[in-house]
Amino acid sequence: MLFTRRHILKTAVAATILPVAARAGYPPLKAHVTRQRVAPQGFPDTTVWSYGDTVPGTAIRVDQGARVQRKLVNDLPQATSVHWHGIRIDNAMDGVPGLTQDAVVPGSSFDYDFVVPDAGTYWYHAHNRSMEQVARGLYGPLIVAEATALDVDQDLVLMLDDWRLNPETAQIMDDFDNGHDLSHAGRLGNILTVNGSFDPVYAVRRNERLRLRLVNASNARILDLDLDGLVGWIVALDGMPLEKPLELSGSFPLAPAQRADLIVDVTAEGDTVSLVSVERDGSFGLARFEVSGSAAKAHRQGVSALPSNPLPEIGNFQEAQTHQMRLQGGAMRWLESARLGEAELSGRELAQLGKFWALNGYAERPEEPFLDAAVGSLHRIEFVNESAFPHAMHLHGHHFRLILGDGSLGPWRDTILVGRGQARQIALIADNPGNWLLHCHMLGHAASGMMSWFRVF
Ligand code: C2O
Ligand code: CU
Repeated sequence: MLFTRRHILKTAVAATILPVAARAGYPPLKAHVTRQRVAPQGFPDTTVWSYGDTVPGTAIRVDQGARVQRKLVNDLPQATSVHWHGIRIDNAMDGVPGLTQDAVVPGSSFDYDFVVPDAGTYWYHAHNRSMEQVARGLYGPLIVAEATALDVDQDLVLMLDDWRLNPETAQIMDDFDNGHDLSHAGRLGNILTVNGSFDPVYAVRRNERLRLRLVNASNARILDLDLDGLVGWIVALDGMPLEKPLELSGSFPLAPAQRADLIVDVTAEGDTVSLVSVERDGSFGLARFEVSGSAAKAHRQGVSALPSNPLPEIGNFQEAQTHQMRLQGGAMRWLESARLGEAELSGRELAQLGKFWALNGYAERPEEPFLDAAVGSLHRIEFVNESAFPHAMHLHGHHFRLILGDGSLGPWRDTILVGRGQARQIALIADNPGNWLLHCHMLGHAASGMMSWFRVF
């Protein structure tokens, strides 16, 4: 082949602008087995699977619009992949084995390379055998900074998780495919952690303003959170700014995979402030903030909305086509039958294969997409929960808006909770080309049937 002068010039230019990371190889994101203290003091360390040295894994913090390059290196005993949850990402980088890439086998690697269009709080997690791999610790924060920094004294990421540990050995119980969990609320644990530790303590000063980035990394637990001694606002959900910050009053829910960004002021009179989980039998502390001294800055008044992200404009959604997705099965509403591959199997046969749930009659990701959408088209999806359990429905590659009871549009989200017997509608602009999963983020439910997909072409 002949090199024309034009070719040579092009090559020369390209070489000079290659980012350092590409020449040196991407920074590794090593998935491996390690140990850390998850249980309270006095218990042994727990064997966990992590990205980098700890659970949560290496924090990835980048600027809005930046390119993220990471080489996943698999040193685990299982094949794996990474999904960048909530990022409106290039489809090839979405990390879904069997749909966007092959699972990365032990001893090999995969180069993730994508751009982050939106500022906000995101996370990354394993997407192969997720119900086991996420439970073992394969998740970490992905924080995309706004172009102008917020006026806060501290910016804290708090990743919440629900572990099921053997109460004597503090090791992870490996009953991941326990049929009772799969067919009920999913794998619920016996110890809640923040950033991988039980009841951690953070140092704050009186009058400080904090940004708290809460991420629910639990397999299945819907958290009901409250703050004791802090006042403030929810300013973003699932990474996306609220048009109007929502003043906190009482507890608020956070379903698996959801995020909430809070701006809070330390107003406590006492010495400790805490983040608590409100449960049937009382409130339990998740993390403590020890108050000492006072911040120099005077207590600020009010809060303004975060700068908005470049999301599409949702036009006349009332006229958009509605696609219904029925959430079926589980204990008390057992499947009569559902499709698995080519066959229609009875509920009993499905249960023997570990399938307890279905989406529109399919007990696994069907061959054909639930929705085939032209790029830029507007759709309504109605989730109709016919089961006796709540589900956290997540769409890949897109955010969508809730359609509220009065017909107005709610906040942008990537995961919504659909309560038992409830029907909830969303408005979606399918503007990101590719094959995208749509599934329940109670990871055991996804593994036992609640998995579908849509195609944007
Ligand atoms: Cu956070 Cu398909 O997942
Ligand atoms: Cu579910």
